[in-house]
Amino acid sequence: MSIEQLYNTTNRSIPTLQFPELLFVEDKLHVVLSKADGLIQQTCVSLLQSGGKRIRPLLTLYSGMCFAPLNPPMIQAAVASELIHMASLIHDDVIDESSTRRGKPTVNALYGDHAAILTGDYLFAEAFNILSTQQLLSSMTYLVEAIQAMCEGEVNQANEQFSSSISMQHYFHRITKKTGMLLAACCQSGAILSGVVSEELIQMREYGINIGYAYQITDDILDISGDAESLGKPVGTDLINGNLTLPFLYLMDNPIYGTWLIEIMKTRKITRQGIQSIKEALVSSGCIDQAYATATKCISKAKASLDKIPRSPYRTTLVNLADSILLRTT
Ligand code: IPE
Ligand code: IPE
Ligand code: MG
Ligand code: MG
Repeated sequence: MSIEQLYNTTNRSIPTLQFPELLFVEDKLHVVLSKADGLIQQTCVSLLQSGGKRIRPLLTLYSGMCFAPLNPPMIQAAVASELIHMASLIHDDVIDESSTRRGKPTVNALYGDHAAILTGDYLFAEAFNILSTQQLLSSMTYLVEAIQAMCEGEVNQANEQFSSSISMQHYFHRITKKTGMLLAACCQSGAILSGVVSEELIQMREYGINIGYAYQITDDILDISGDAESLGKPVGTDLINGNLTLPFLYLMDNPIYGTWLIEIMKTRKITRQGIQSIKEALVSSGCIDQAYATATKCISKAKASLDKIPRSPYRTTLVNLADSILLRTT
């Protein structure tokens, strides 16, 4: 089942019908963002209403509900996780010079980098506003660690642009920081708010990190082989910005195309025609399939981490969510 099927949606509607608990999160996000002033309110409410898969709040809530009934702190942690994610998207679009997000023009495209940076900062501050209550301090610790990791991941990526000496290890290190840690933090923060300790928290972290790998690998595949319209964001940006993601790393190791790709990377200028040729090479060499196969292994590991937690409809949803990641097109 794909994410679209799991969510029963092909457009950018928010998956509250399939996961009604998300309605509490949506409601609170709306309240929190509506109280901002002027441009910040306008851009944040617009980003919120443009869609998004709400994976992070979903992970927070369902990780918690695997162990205890839904409680208000879980909802607050879920809200904070989406605010942090939104902030990181707005900042990421500045870094990647991206013009669209969730099918709409980005904040940087509409109002410039300064406004986008400050809007992202505002969202981070709002997340901490929520997390700074006594009951949420444990969640805050996980989320703070994740934000720091995200920054390190983005800085590492910028340092490694167009570098053909990037190893697989570098790549996994980068995506752990960029994506895996936040998903793991969501799972752990939901779980800790249900009252569980030690072993279960480690299992939820393992699940989060591994779906994080698969999530980012799929995102990296879609950046080259996906459709901008359904993704709601531009494609080809990783290549243009010299971000060598997993499919390209496989192609660099390929006996036929490797040297060719390294030579193109050295020029640091990738044309539209270049993107098209590289895309064709990725398909015909099997590198796209190879990247999907690696993501599939991560999914299996993620699901295995859930083996020891109690059986429940919530655990089943987390298993289905893991399976749906590879099939996503949005
Ligand atoms: C995009 O995140 C950035 C990545 C970590 C791949 P999502 O794909 O979860 O974005 P939305 O929230 O659904 O728009
Ligand atoms: C994820 O990487 C960025 C964040 C951690 C926010 P990408 O740069 O691939 O995300 P998209 O493709 O712009 O959504
Ligand atoms: Mg980006
Ligand atoms: Mg991407």
